[in-house]
Amino acid sequence: MQTHEIRERFTNHFVATGHTEVPSASLILDDPNLLFVNAGMVPFKPYFLGQQNPPFPNGTATSIQKCVRTLDIEEVGITTRHNTFFQMAGNFSFGQYFKEGAIIHAWKLLTNSIEDGGFGLDPERLWVTVYLDDDESEDIWHEKVGVPRERIQRLGMEDNYWSMGIPGPCGPCSEIYYDRGPEYGKEGGPVADDSRYMEIWNLVFMEKERGEGTGKGSFEIIGDLPKKNIDTGLGIERVACILQGVDNVYETDLLNPVIKIAEKVTGSTYEDPQADRTDDIRFRVIADHSRTAMMLILDGVTPSNEGRGYILRRLLRRIIRSARLLGAQGKTMDAFMETIMDTMQPSFPEIAESRERIRRTAAAEETAFLRTLEAGTHLFDNTVEELGSAGSKTLSGERAFELHDTYGFPIDLTLEMASEAGLKVDMEAFNAAMTQQRERAKADNRAKKHAHTDLSVYREWVDNFPTEFVGYSELEASGKILGLVSEGISQPEAQVGQQVEVILDSTPMYAESGGQMGDRGKIRTPGGILQVDDVQRIGKKLWVHRATVTEGGIAVGENVTTQVDQAWRHGARQAHSATHLIHAALRQVLGPTAVQAGSLNRPGYLRFDFNYTEQLTAEQVQEIQLIANQAVDTDWEVHTVETTLDKARDMGALALFGENYGDTVRVVEIGGPFSMELCGGTHVKHSSQIGPISVLGESSVGSGARRIEAFSGLDAFKFMQKETALAAGLATEFKVPTGDLPARIAGLVNRLQEAEKKVEQLRRAQLAAQSAEFIAAAHEINGILVVTGRVHDGISAADLRTFANEARGRLKDREAVIAIGSHDPAADKAPFIVAATPAAVKRGVHAGKLVQLLSGYLKGRGGGKADMAQGSGNDIAGLEAGLSAVKAEIEAL
Ligand code: ALA
Repeated sequence: MQTHEIRERFTNHFVATGHTEVPSASLILDDPNLLFVNAGMVPFKPYFLGQQNPPFPNGTATSIQKCVRTLDIEEVGITTRHNTFFQMAGNFSFGQYFKEGAIIHAWKLLTNSIEDGGFGLDPERLWVTVYLDDDESEDIWHEKVGVPRERIQRLGMEDNYWSMGIPGPCGPCSEIYYDRGPEYGKEGGPVADDSRYMEIWNLVFMEKERGEGTGKGSFEIIGDLPKKNIDTGLGIERVACILQGVDNVYETDLLNPVIKIAEKVTGSTYEDPQADRTDDIRFRVIADHSRTAMMLILDGVTPSNEGRGYILRRLLRRIIRSARLLGAQGKTMDAFMETIMDTMQPSFPEIAESRERIRRTAAAEETAFLRTLEAGTHLFDNTVEELGSAGSKTLSGERAFELHDTYGFPIDLTLEMASEAGLKVDMEAFNAAMTQQRERAKADNRAKKHAHTDLSVYREWVDNFPTEFVGYSELEASGKILGLVSEGISQPEAQVGQQVEVILDSTPMYAESGGQMGDRGKIRTPGGILQVDDVQRIGKKLWVHRATVTEGGIAVGENVTTQVDQAWRHGARQAHSATHLIHAALRQVLGPTAVQAGSLNRPGYLRFDFNYTEQLTAEQVQEIQLIANQAVDTDWEVHTVETTLDKARDMGALALFGENYGDTVRVVEIGGPFSMELCGGTHVKHSSQIGPISVLGESSVGSGARRIEAFSGLDAFKFMQKETALAAGLATEFKVPTGDLPARIAGLVNRLQEAEKKVEQLRRAQLAAQSAEFIAAAHEINGILVVTGRVHDGISAADLRTFANEARGRLKDREAVIAIGSHDPAADKAPFIVAATPAAVKRGVHAGKLVQLLSGYLKGRGGGKADMAQGSGNDIAGLEAGLSAVKAEIEAL
């Protein structure tokens, strides 16, 4: 049975019993605790916690959620069980059916015959586990379903108590296992062997809320959830293994084609009895990582050096390196991406629209990595050479770490290359460096967690008193102080001079989100005034005003009047609407593959990041700017509507990843189809109110992403005014009309280059003339003409060499020695040089030795061959005595 059919059967089974079908959320949800969605229940968290009402008619839902878990990336491929991407199918009940309902639903789907829409599994091969004290579940399994008691086992907190690993909903669970048969391990059920007995479905009885804690097995239970809920997770890939009669996921219809294409492009064979087992690991890394990387790019991640982008980068680099180690020569990424997109597209039809973008993003990373791979290889080769001349056979741990850290060389690549060069790697030192790096990373993580824990002070308000935002229509509104927070602690009051965070029941001030910065403004109470410098949102629902008390004092419970700084808001609206116009113009010029990757706007300024691998041409930038300003000029009305996500998509609104279905969304529309985006920001009413938009530039922000920056409104005008003034100033300076400036400047640059050339020629002629003077003044010593002296100050060592060569050329048929020095006052150095003609060398003159002699007098160092040697001294005062010593030396030959 193909994987997409397994998916269909799952969904049909639950839809037939009244569950609302919910599409998979993006892998990237707005949760600071999660890099990626890692379980089917993540998008439903607010419903479990009772923060929001589930928008499903029967209070039940079903989904097949994309999940990514990258904690043990290094394990991938070593076993066949670890996968970084998987699809978790689940059914969810929010206060509706509980244990019995969940158990019976699952059992029916697993054991119903194929004709009846089930998976047709043999009930005799199914085992279950329940939590230690969960008699109720055991009884249901036995009495209602008929599982014999000997196939029901009990496990503790580590295995049968589920939470997201962070504060949130949790509860005991019951897991269903499939017995793969004696060839996979020993008898005795899941407690005896979890390889033979493969877990396929986890039923979580979500009834508690957990707090902080470490590990799976120890955390605090804070209390009961408002209702008893069901969260389940069935591993689609695991069921596919069973139903496709294969041993592991790498042999299923999803991943096997990637292994096949990898065999083709690398020339190696998977599970080749002749080959090393590490080869198999590499094939599995390619297959697993190709899929995860593809799905991440699909959801808008681009490779970078931090956070999600870093994970993607790591995955892609591991693929490239593995392919190389398997023998691939050129680029392979296209082949892997095309193949995995083919196998995944039946289950994820949206891949079709993004194929080109995915292919391009992955290929750009490959190009970039192959380049560092080259630079790293260069460093490696140099190291091998150094070690060779030092007679060492060990590559230092520091160098191996540098290769890893700076050039992205995975250690096994270094190890393999080292062994080819007959070298060992000091792994102890390498591991020490890695451990140090990990410690640093851990410390960073702890710091981040700490910041999160601090949010607990807002908890009560988030849960019970969400802020009402009235700022779309009002710039001034009354409200009440619900809370004050200072240094992470809730306070009853605050005095003049104090910085404080203010929680109000209702506010007109916009809190930073969707790239728009928070408003500035004032809060007035009967006895005090606060200046608000920032507004942040916590958990999407609570507005926190960061403010300073500028007059009097304030206290919780007081009534307030809150005023948004009008000028600020005016500028913020202009910038945000301008961002939408730039986005729309960009898509017109570059096509729909230029997907938004992030944005920021504040009064007068905006920046917009988008996924695109090539640098924009000046013409493209001009065109984008023109289209955006034409849209301003058209004076379109700006409309906002609130609707469901589905309707918004039908309307054609652009959504950034991370939106949650079920929510009402706000669509901002400028000029109908011209620009329609999901957006919670504040906007102008007519596009002409934006004023001019002036693009400041276009640049790269990491591989696969570009950034456009622009000014809006009066700031755009001021920017253009400055540019114009600059051009006018130059025109005056150059005495031409501004239009003629480019030609004028090009002409000047040309003349300057000509002049520099002439200066250089003159200098050489001058040196030649001087060398003639030196020769004329030279004397013979011991039959050898000795040309010595101090050349004029400030000439470089290279000039000195020219000088000496020049002189030696003139004297080439004679026995002659040139020994000269100079002073470079800028560097306070004294360069010197000795040159000898072939006849002089025959007489026994050795320039290198004479330079060494001079080095002593000039307090410097130098060396060279018999016919030419050079040095650099620190004391020009020693030159005269040094030259006398040289003469004495020649005399003594
Ligand atoms: N949330 C449960 C899991 O991820 C079903 O295993």
